[in-house]
Amino acid sequence: TFVVVDNCIKCKYTDCVEVCPVDAFREGPNFLAIDPDDCIDCTLCEPECPANAIYPEDDVPAGQEAFVALNAELARDWPVITERKDAPADASEWDGKPGKLPLLQR
Ligand code: SF4
Ligand code: F3S
Repeated sequence: TFVVVDNCIKCKYTDCVEVCPVDAFREGPNFLAIDPDDCIDCTLCEPECPANAIYPEDDVPAGQEAFVALNAELARDWPVITERKDAPADASEWDGKPGKLPLLQR
């Protein structure tokens, strides 16, 4: 499965959701998660993310391994998102800031 990692937090550009053929993305307040039960590893979403926040589960950046389990956990509770929406007004200010996990809203 593919997973969404730290840099999506507070960026949430949502370009990723429109290309997913199986509607695997789930939407939280300031982060998106991929449901591992739905993802078919098509790879289409990975290059769509302007924040480079999508990785194969076996290749997540060092230190971000917890996002594999976190995507699965959050996807259980969050609704499906299939249409792109405007990013937060300050998304570009947060793009690239490390260690945003404490800011994740559930
Ligand atoms: Fe959807 Fe493909 Fe991305 Fe999996 S890899 S979340 S199936 S677009
Ligand atoms: Fe997040 Fe990138 Fe999608 S910032 S919402 S994973 S396009």
